[in-house]
Amino acid sequence: MRKKIIAGNWKMHGNLAQVTILVQQLLELASIQPITAECIILPPVIYLPVIANKLRDSNIQWGAQNVYPKNFGPYTGEISGQMLQDYSCRYVLVGHSERRQLFNETEKFIMEKFHHIKEHGMIPILCVGETFAEREQKLTEKVLATQLNVINETNTGCVNTIIAYEPRWAIGSGQAAQPEQVQSAHAFIRNFISNNNQNAQMVPILYGGSLHRYNAVALFAMPDVDGGLVGGASLDAQHFVDIMRCIN
Ligand code: PGA
Repeated sequence: MRKKIIAGNWKMHGNLAQVTILVQQLLELASIQPITAECIILPPVIYLPVIANKLRDSNIQWGAQNVYPKNFGPYTGEISGQMLQDYSCRYVLVGHSERRQLFNETEKFIMEKFHHIKEHGMIPILCVGETFAEREQKLTEKVLATQLNVINETNTGCVNTIIAYEPRWAIGSGQAAQPEQVQSAHAFIRNFISNNNQNAQMVPILYGGSLHRYNAVALFAMPDVDGGLVGGASLDAQHFVDIMRCIN
């Protein structure tokens, strides 16, 4: 049985007062409405100490949205895996489409980050997904295969790894992909990483891109969808908990 996971990517939203209220609301709701899925919060990195402190005795996990793949050194403005470990981060997003697109992150750089996360005993949430133009040109599987190579080229690529399929055109658009489109991409992903690797059956594959409480049931009903990576809707504690309850 694969783990069911719901992760909330808060991106660059909120201030100290807002994130403190949000995490408090989440804790309260989660205690009233028990959650069976693993819940992960990915706040802006500057709020990690506050979040880690609040969540320490709960069953909600936390992680980072990014990492720089060096332990220390002259890398102004960057944060290493070692530093994230100081706040007991268990998960780190890598390859998110906003980083690929807005910060020109290459496959090589993403691979370095992927290794760095694993070397520090944390779990990468590798994001993959095609643009609308690539889908129109029937290039979805080709794009996914390129982005997934990092898994096949790493000995432990399928151990302690999470994949998030996030079609770029669905992110923040209010228009999630159709459940059948998602199932087909997830099945392709699982098949692609299964190449000589039995552990592939255990890799959770999450869906992300305008995932909300009104479309979550249909998406989670797909056999290869093991949960979700939620952006906008994770900023509302009730909506986020409602999405988690759709997975039961
Ligand atoms: P969204 O973002 O839910 O706001 O579409 C998802 C993501 O970027 O991870």
